[in-house]
Amino acid sequence: MGKHYPTVTEEYKKAVDKAKKKLRGLIAEKNCAPLILRLAWHSAGTFDVKTRTGGPFGTIKNPVELAHAANNGLDIAVRLLEPIKEQFPILTYADFYQLAGVVAVEITGGPEVPFHPGREDKSESPPEGRLPDATKGSDHLRDVFGTMGLSDQDIVALSGGHTLGRAHKERSGFEGPWTVNPLIFDNTYFKELLSGEKECLLQLPSDKALLSDPVFRPLVEKYAADEDAYFADYSEAHRRLSELGFADA
Ligand code: HEM
Repeated sequence: MGKHYPTVTEEYKKAVDKAKKKLRGLIAEKNCAPLILRLAWHSAGTFDVKTRTGGPFGTIKNPVELAHAANNGLDIAVRLLEPIKEQFPILTYADFYQLAGVVAVEITGGPEVPFHPGREDKSESPPEGRLPDATKGSDHLRDVFGTMGLSDQDIVALSGGHTLGRAHKERSGFEGPWTVNPLIFDNTYFKELLSGEKECLLQLPSDKALLSDPVFRPLVEKYAADEDAYFADYSEAHRRLSELGFADA
C-alpha cells in the first residue's frame, strides 16, 4: 500500500540533506552505526497500528521512555546525536532519528533506504512493553511486529539488522556480536545463523526462532544465499518501519 507523504518546505528539505552529511561524519567518526540503528528501530517499533499510538515521533528521547528496560544504553545514542540536532532546529526529532537510522545502514555498506520527511514530534511516550523480548519465539515476534502492522517477511529482513553491533551484558543481559564484522552491513547474519552456534558469536533465542519457523526459515536461506535479494527486502522493510504512522494513501 502506498503512503501519503506530508509536504515539507524547500528549506526543510535542504536541512535534511545537510543533516544527512553531518550524520555520515559523526557516525563514521564514532563508529556508532549499530547503536544509532537500534535507536531508530526502538523509536519506530512501539507503533500500534490499531490505536495509532507510539511509533517514530521523537518520544524516545523522553527520560520515561529511555528508562524502559528495552532501551538500556540508548541514552548514549540520544546524547551523541544532540550536537547535530542542535544545528538543525527546523527538523523534528522524529525525522532526525529516522534519518540517522537510514544513514547508519548506508555508511556501513548496506542498502539505501528511501527517506521521506514530514513526521511530527509528539509528546506522549508509549507504554513500556511493546518491543520484542529476546528470550521468546516466533509467536511473540508475530504478535509484536503484527501490532506494528509489519509482515513475516519484514520480521526476517529486519532481524538482519543484527549484522551490525553487539549485545552488552549490562544493557540486555546478553553479550557479544552476531558476526565477526559488526561494523559492516551485509548478509553475514543469515549465514552465521544457518551455520550454527559458535563460541565467539551470539544468537539470541529470538534469532534462533527464525530457523525453526516454516515461513521464516526459507527467507533466512534466501537472504544467506543472495545478498542482493536481502538488500532489496531489507530496504523495503526498513522504509516501512521508519514510516509507521504516516497515513496510507
Ligand atoms: C526481532 C526482534 C528483536 C529482538 C528480540 C532484538 C533484541 C536485541 C538485543 C537483546 C540487543 C542487545 C542490546 C544490548 O545489549 O546492547 C539488540 C541489539 C541490536 N539490535 Fe536488535 N532485536 C530485534 C530486532 C532488531 C531490529 C528489527 C533491528 C534493526 C533493523 C535491530 C537492531 C539492533 C542493533 C543494530 C543492535 C546492536 C546495538 C549495539 O551494538 O549497541 N534489532 N537487539
